[in-house]
Parts: sequence; C-alpha cells; structure tokens
Amino acid sequence: MNASKKILFAAVATGMACLISGCASTDTLSKQQADLPKDKINAGGLFAENCVRCHGTNGRAHTFHGIILGAQNLTDAKWQIDTTDDEIIHAIKTGPHAMPEFDKKLSESEIEALAMYVRTLKAAN
Ligand code: HEC
Repeated sequence: MNASKKILFAAVATGMACLISGCASTDTLSKQQADLPKDKINAGGLFAENCVRCHGTNGRAHTFHGIILGAQNLTDAKWQIDTTDDEIIHAIKTGPHAMPEFDKKLSESEIEALAMYVRTLKAAN
C-alpha cells in the first residue's frame, strides 16, 4: 500500500469507528445542555449548531439554505413585533414549512432559551 492509500484507509477507518460508536466523545451542544436550566444554557451556541445554516449568524437568513428554503429573517422589526414568544417557541418545536422540527432534538429549556436568543437578533430598523 502506498502512502496516500494508507492515509485514505486511516481516514475511512476513523469514520467507520465514529459511525459505529455514535461519536460519543463529540456530543453535540444540544445533548450536553439538555438537562440544564434555561439561564445556564448557551443559546448562542445552540443557535450556531442548529439554526445558522438557514437563518445565518446574524439571523438575516442570507445563507444558501436560507435563500433556497425561504427562511424567516429573524431580525425583521415588523416580524419581531407581530410574533409572540409562544409563536416562536411553537415554530422551533414544530418547524413550519421547510424548517425541521426541534421538539425531539432540544429540551424544553433549550427551546425557551433559543426563543429568547431570537429576540436579541432584532435589528434597530
Ligand atoms: C433547514 C433550514 C432551517 C433551519 C435549520 C432552521 N430554520 Fe427556522 N425557518 C426556516 C424556514 C424555511 C422558515 C420559514 C417557514 C415559513 O414559511 O413560515 C423558518 C422560520 C422560522 C421562524 C419564524 C416562524 C414564524 O412563525 O414566523 C423562527 C422563529 C425560526 N425559524 C427559528 C429557528 C430556530 C431557532 C432554529 C434553530 C433551532 C431554526 N429556525 C432552524 C428554515 C430553517
């Protein structure tokens, strides 16, 4: 086996081990924080892990997935005013339209912390 084949083999083997073990050593933030109370949760971290792909770091949804799927611009001042906390929580749990549902993936306190985080994204426009 030449060197590059060896490297490829090692990479594939590591990937397989990770699949089989479920990558337990690299638990997601969502799992790590599931049992924490709301005020101890790193909501920004959860947002980065679960939401940024579509809604973008700043919440404006100017990402590839956000544009393709038509994700809500979370900074929109009118949307922020028109939407209640309960509606935000409901949306995170159930995932309207092309958004995935997070009811099973995140705990109740994680979802509430995320809803509060969404409020901080409001733009001053
Ligand atoms: C795969 C892309 C995707 C991901 C990931 C995603 N969203 Fe969404 N989100 C959407 C789309 C698309 C909509 C618009 C749905 C619609 O038409 O009302 C949306 C809408 C929303 C809304 C507005 C709902 C309303 O009632 O107006 C909120 C709040 C929201 N997302 C929060 C989040 C949060 C928080 C996360 C992470 C936990 C997240 N989203 C992850 C795609 C996504």
